[in-house]
Amino acid sequence: MSKSIGIIGSGMIGSQVARLAMAAGYDVVICNSRGPETLTDLIAELGPKARAARLAEVSSGNDIIILAVPFAAYPKLPADILAGKILVDTMNYYPERDGIMGEVKTDKIASSELVQKHLVDSCVVRAINNMDFVRLLSRARPAGHNERSALPVASDFEDAKASVINFLDDIGYDSVNMGALSESWRSEPTMPVYVNPYWRINTVYESGPTDVSSFMTALGNVVSKEKVTDLLRKAVRHDKMYGSLGNFDINKA
Ligand SMILES: NC(=O)c1ccc[n+]([C@@H]2O[C@H](COP(=O)([O-])OP(=O)(O)OC[C@H]3O[C@@H](n4cnc5c(N)ncnc54)[C@H](OP(=O)(O)O)[C@@H]3O)[C@@H](O)[C@H]2O)c1
Repeated sequence: MSKSIGIIGSGMIGSQVARLAMAAGYDVVICNSRGPETLTDLIAELGPKARAARLAEVSSGNDIIILAVPFAAYPKLPADILAGKILVDTMNYYPERDGIMGEVKTDKIASSELVQKHLVDSCVVRAINNMDFVRLLSRARPAGHNERSALPVASDFEDAKASVINFLDDIGYDSVNMGALSESWRSEPTMPVYVNPYWRINTVYESGPTDVSSFMTALGNVVSKEKVTDLLRKAVRHDKMYGSLGNFDINKA
């Protein structure tokens, strides 16, 4: 039986997940906000097992759908159309990009819990949010490879979580179970497992790429299941768990 995945958002992370999924034998259906006619270059690059569509079609033909849009767009995602689907929430809150969103209170509610509240009849799974899109491709390895990295996964729905763990396994990653969505703050921006361990030697959180050419080319690091487990355990929650692309002071926004 052919495997298929839906992707909402065709930018850096959506297109990279498409590449990984296709390499693992999946058919891919992908959409953006402007319509399938704007995706001809990407589809030409991906090849015949990829197709551009509108969001409703991405949803209707797939059980697992990757949400790869800016966090500010989550309230616009249609809860009725996405009802019953497994939704992989890759979205992180970046105030510079997303604007100030009053519902975000990082010390009280995980961003994926907000997404689940909105998409109330779907099964939201937090995953693929803590690794940058370059390393996501360069560090993927087949099951059993001694350089395999792991990604944290959380959901309030165990069956949905298991399906996403299978998908991650297919595209090149082990998983570490964070538990319910209420625990998913542990993989949000500024936390020890967010981006840096996969990319930099220094695992202290730094905002934004310091050197763009090295960001685009560095192979990155193996981050094993044991290491991810340890980094999740070291997470300490606070009220400014936002991504930043540079010097951004939320108090002056
Ligand atoms: N980039 C990374 O390394 C990375 C890593 C982990 C997680 N993430 C997270 O992944 C998400 C996407 O990031 P990105 O870097 O891939 O962004 P991006 O390159 O700017 O791409 C965003 C995509 O979302 C689409 N989009 C926006 N609003 C939409 C809507 N209402 N319906 C359908 N599609 C919509 C855009 O389509 P149009 O172009 O047509 O508007 C575009 O294809 C973000 O939440 C980010 O925090 C990113």
